[in-house]
Amino acid sequence: MIIVTGGAGFIGSNFVLDWLATCEEPVVNLDRLTYAGNLSNLRSLEGDSRHHFVQGDICDAGLVADLLSTWKPRAIVHFAAESHVDRSIHGPADFIRTNINGTFTLLEAARAYWNGLGETERAGFRFLHVSTDEVYGTLGPDDAPFSETTAYAPNSPYSATKAASDHLVRSYHHTYGLPTLTTNCSNNYGPYHFPEKLIPLVIANARAGKPLPIYGDGQQVRDWLYVRDHCAAIRQVLAGGRLGETYNIGGWNEKANLEVVTRLCDILDELDPKEQGSYRDQITFVADRPGHDRRYAIDARKIERELGWKPVETFDSGIRKTVEWYLANQDWVRNVQSGDYLKWIDKNYAVRDSAAEAAQ
Ligand code: NAD
Ligand code: DAU
Repeated sequence: MIIVTGGAGFIGSNFVLDWLATCEEPVVNLDRLTYAGNLSNLRSLEGDSRHHFVQGDICDAGLVADLLSTWKPRAIVHFAAESHVDRSIHGPADFIRTNINGTFTLLEAARAYWNGLGETERAGFRFLHVSTDEVYGTLGPDDAPFSETTAYAPNSPYSATKAASDHLVRSYHHTYGLPTLTTNCSNNYGPYHFPEKLIPLVIANARAGKPLPIYGDGQQVRDWLYVRDHCAAIRQVLAGGRLGETYNIGGWNEKANLEVVTRLCDILDELDPKEQGSYRDQITFVADRPGHDRRYAIDARKIERELGWKPVETFDSGIRKTVEWYLANQDWVRNVQSGDYLKWIDKNYAVRDSAAEAAQ
């Protein structure tokens, strides 16, 4: 069996659902259920004895040690993190705590557990750390995409904490021999994506008749990957990745934010037309994100060469599936738009709107 951390969040819940759809191996899912964690993502697993959900904190060393000694997993797949760049700008403390101290706590518990295993179990154990392309910083328009040997240059408090956690993982392999694997992935999108992030926020705001906020000039580029392709890549790294290695995962899908938003508007115009006009009319330029990285792009040739992974979805197929999912799951969107969510939207966008107006 495996332990997954953060398996009630966006990528973690997709991973757990796909895992149990593709194999019988049970999952212990450790998640604190912060604002980003949502058990309704896992509703289809109710009554499934292969899924054991534990509400708890990865910073709780006693709890993590207990889970390891009780369940004796063959692997830990570590998703749990504070993940939103804008939130890290407003308040980095939670990011330091979960992303750095939490990863450290897990590594320490994993090291003690792994040291106590018999020879065969020790050889088979894996600690897979899920990380981001943001640790590499930003690219110019003509720079080569990030490879596994690109120097780390994180620019936001979020990416700095992820970089720190990557370095800790690397050091536990190098110093203690812990069998680690690290993945650095580009921007994901798809079902269960929390509507503070660009794509689900735009879909939700469009349908609510609200502004579609574009930071700065909207020409920042991200390399978009459908979430289930990311989950498949993680399964392949877990199964066949070389110990201590990192694998970059990306969609070969570079798009400027404005292009992504206009594409979303066009699909919504087709699938759920407004009475008058286009959703494009709601596009609104707002003040930029401080320290906004201009371009991310992933060179995913290593994982293709070594493990045979390639994304299945194109941007066109993935983004259409995503819009269809949000249209079919409006209750899910309404449920996550709670009081806390509204407070965040006010905090992040009220300041931006007034800054953009002042600049005009
Ligand atoms: P998310 O914010 O949607 O989910 C994070 C989950 O972690 C939530 O369920 C939350 O409750 C849980 N969590 C937070 N703090 C915790 C703690 N202290 N203890 C236990 N659980 C805790 O994040 P996501 O977008 O699903 O990202 C998952 C991982 O993938 C993160 O490590 C992130 O850095 C990485 N990543 C994300 C993307 C992306 O585009 N979303 C891309 C590359 C890498
Ligand atoms: O690259 C991987 C990273 O992708 C992950 O590590 C992060 O966890 C994940 O949140 C994501 O980070 P981004 O900052 O790229 O994602 P976000 O959806 O917040 O923003 C995508 C782009 O859209 C970015 O250039 C900022 C811009 N943006 C975002 C929001 C929320 C807007 O223009 N308007 C918005 O309202």
